[in-house]
Amino acid sequence: MTLTALSGFWHPLATSDEVTDQPRRFELLDDYVVAFRDENGVAAFRDLCIHRGAALSLGWVRNGNLVCPYHGWQYDRTGACVKIPSRPADAPIPGNARAFAYNVQEKYGLVWVAIDEPRDEIPPFPGDIFEDAAWKSFISYREVWKTSAARAVENFMDFSHFPYVHEGLLGTEDKAEIAPYTVEKRENGLHYWLEQEEPSDLYGAGGVQKVRYEYTLVVPFTIHLKKIELGTGRETFITQFTLPRTSKTTEVFVFIVRNHSHDQPDSKFSDFTNTIMEQDRVVVESQRPEELPDSLREELHIKVPDAASLLYRQRLASLAKVDVFGPYGA
Ligand code: FES
Ligand code: CO
Repeated sequence: MTLTALSGFWHPLATSDEVTDQPRRFELLDDYVVAFRDENGVAAFRDLCIHRGAALSLGWVRNGNLVCPYHGWQYDRTGACVKIPSRPADAPIPGNARAFAYNVQEKYGLVWVAIDEPRDEIPPFPGDIFEDAAWKSFISYREVWKTSAARAVENFMDFSHFPYVHEGLLGTEDKAEIAPYTVEKRENGLHYWLEQEEPSDLYGAGGVQKVRYEYTLVVPFTIHLKKIELGTGRETFITQFTLPRTSKTTEVFVFIVRNHSHDQPDSKFSDFTNTIMEQDRVVVESQRPEELPDSLREELHIKVPDAASLLYRQRLASLAKVDVFGPYGA
């Protein structure tokens, strides 16, 4: 999938507290972004001054304007150049003296950026749980993986590796067979579920118990896993927001959002999840090529266990082809 097809989606750049009045450089889609905050909120531009190409992230904010570190041109939060100090104060400023301003929003404690006009909303949670006091959320895991975003998401969607990569935690080798399951196609992604006995005493609920896993994919790179403990009814979301920094490096933000155990420390939940993520990272970073193959003819797909992953690959391929505001494909 080409990177340009991704420029119309919201991507999670950083946590809100990382974007301050000190401009800072971030990486997105094989390029750099500068983000900063003034009293009107966060602004984000391509990290490049139109004058001579200096990195705006080396500059500073003055009176709400971003000052280029090289010749001091000043850009307002819309990207318009409002001052060229080397020219007389009353000299007109060329209309094309602009920074490349990106769309920016804050949600879930993250700063989200869309380079082009966003074709979709910021990836929603299933249900408005994030605003609901019955649910408690925190970022459990955040790492840069040496892989593409699509590989990192496809791994999260995949459960037939549980008995191997997460032996004893999420699966056991004697239960490697995957029963047929249905993948529902949604306008913005995919949804499917399965149930199994989780071999570990996941969250101290008291021994092995049956767990229902509901997966909700939001294209291109958000995957929610809702775990429902069928004995206790407790529900826990493990949600990966995925930042395509380059075609071969990807930052993953994993949230845990739970409707139970608010009195327990978050670490009780993060330890397990972070162990799983690190087990995944080793295998995923070994995959070649780093990017998903463009053609479904490459690699081998097994009908039942790879059903969700196949549809994901088809969906990504169709996204890469449609016009910016075109409908989603198959
Ligand atoms: Fe930015 Fe000259 S390069 S002001
Ligand atoms: Co895994």
